[in-house]
Amino acid sequence: MARSATIFTCSACGAQSPKWHGRCPGCGEWNTLVEERAPAPGAGGGRGGRSGALGPAGAAPAGKAVPLRDVRVERTPRLHTGIGELDRVLGGGLVPGSLVLLGGSPGIGKSTLTNMALGHLAAAGRRTLYVSGEESAAQIRLRAERLGAHALEVPVLAETDLDAVLATMRAEGPEACVIDSVQTLHSAALDSAPGTVGQVREVATRIAEVAKRSGTAVLLVGHVTKEGSLAGPRVLEHLVDCVLQFEGERERTYRTLRALKNRFGSTNDVGVFEMAANGLAEVLDASARFVGEATKAPGSVVLAAMEGSRPLLVEVQALVSPSEVVPPRRVCTGLDRNRLALVLAVLGRHAGVGVGAADVFVNVVGGVRIDEPGADVAVALAVASAARGVATSPAPLACFGEIGLTGELRSVAHPERRSAEAEKFGLRQVLSPATAPTLRAAVRAALGDRDRPVRAA
Ligand code: TYD
Ligand code: MG
Repeated sequence: MARSATIFTCSACGAQSPKWHGRCPGCGEWNTLVEERAPAPGAGGGRGGRSGALGPAGAAPAGKAVPLRDVRVERTPRLHTGIGELDRVLGGGLVPGSLVLLGGSPGIGKSTLTNMALGHLAAAGRRTLYVSGEESAAQIRLRAERLGAHALEVPVLAETDLDAVLATMRAEGPEACVIDSVQTLHSAALDSAPGTVGQVREVATRIAEVAKRSGTAVLLVGHVTKEGSLAGPRVLEHLVDCVLQFEGERERTYRTLRALKNRFGSTNDVGVFEMAANGLAEVLDASARFVGEATKAPGSVVLAAMEGSRPLLVEVQALVSPSEVVPPRRVCTGLDRNRLALVLAVLGRHAGVGVGAADVFVNVVGGVRIDEPGADVAVALAVASAARGVATSPAPLACFGEIGLTGELRSVAHPERRSAEAEKFGLRQVLSPATAPTLRAAVRAALGDRDRPVRAA
C-alpha cells in the first residue's frame, strides 16, 4: 500500500497537510494535527466533503425527501444481555446494528461486564464474538472461569490488527460483538500508533461500517483516565449511538454505570454493581445497604439523592479537625470541590457554623459520585454535625435540597420520590426545603437548639 495514502487534518481549523506538524500551519494551534486516511481519488470529496463546496453545482442527482410519517422503520427486537442493570441503562437491551461505547478507568470491570453480557447472550443461543487487543486468549479464559459456565461459551479472538478483526467479524457474523479495547486496535492504513486520535477514530468508523451492514450490536470498550482526558474515547462520542460510563473507585466495591448519551433510551438511568469474587453482581437494594451502613455518629447524614430517574439513599460523612496547614484542607470524595467551598461559605455566613481554619473532609460513602445540587444540604448538615460534635436527631437523618447564596433552601427535582424512598427504608423524617426554608432552620432542626450567634457580619 502506498504510504502517501494518509493526510493530516487539523482538528481545530480543518487545514490539511501531507506531513505532520507540531503546530498547525493553518491556525497556529499546537498538537491538533490528526492522521486520517486520504480520500480515494475521484471519490467525490470523500470524508468532510471539502471539495463539495467548490465543486460544480448540480453534479449530483437530487435526493428525495420523505415525510417522517412515511419513513419505514424495521422494529428489530433488542438483545437482552441478561444483566438487568445494564439492559436498563441501555434503555431495554442492545439494539442490533448499534455502537455502544463503554468508558471507564482501568480495572473498573469493563472486561468483566462485557464478558458476562456476551456469556448470557451466548447461553441464550445468540452468536457472539469477543475481540481482545489487551489480553491473551488464555488470560480471558481465566477470567471467564470465574464468571461461570456461560462465559466460557463465548468465541474469543486475541488480535490487534483492525483488518483481521473486520475479516473475522464478516466471517463469523456475530449478533453481539465486544471490542476490548478500541485503543489497542491498529489500522495499517495509518502510520500513527494505536490509541492516537486518528487511529481510534479510524478503528471505530470502520467497525461501525461493518456493524451497520451486518446488524451486529457492538460494544466498544474504551479506557478513560481519571482526568477523563485521554485522547481515545472522547473523540468517539459523536460517532457512537450510546456512551456508557462505568465509574467508581477501584478499591471500593460499588460501581455505577450511567448513560451519558443514548439514541435509543433515556440518559437518566443508573445501574449499581458490586465487584464480587465471581464477577459483577447487580445491587438492587443499594439504598437499603447504604442506610444500613450509616454510622449515625456525629458527621453522618443520609442524602436522599436522585441518580437519574432513580432515588438513591447514600450516606454523606464529614470530619472537621484543627488544621496544621495554611490554607486548611478542603477534601471531598464523590462531590464537586467548588460546591463544598460554596456550602462552607453559606454555612458560616448564614447558619452560624463557621469552620474557619479547620480542615474539612467530606465523603460520599461507598464510592458513589453525586453530581446534583440536591446534595448541598446533606453536605452542610454533615459538616455542621461534625463541627459541633453532635449527632443529628433522629440519626440517621435523611435530607435533600439545594442551598442558595442567601442561606435559603431551594427545591430540587422529584421531592416526593426522594421522600418516598427515605420512608421506604424507615427514615420517617425527611429534612427538605418544604420543612425547613433556610439552612439555619435546617441546622436547628437537625442538631437541636444550640444555635450559636452568627459570626461577625
Ligand atoms: P477488569 O474487568 O479486567 O477491568 P477493566 O477491563 O475495566 O480494566 O477487572 C477489574 C478488576 O476486578 C480486576 O482487578 C480483578 C477484579 N475481579 C474481581 O474482583 N472478581 C472477578 O470475578 C473478576 C473477573 C475480576
Ligand atoms: Mg479490561
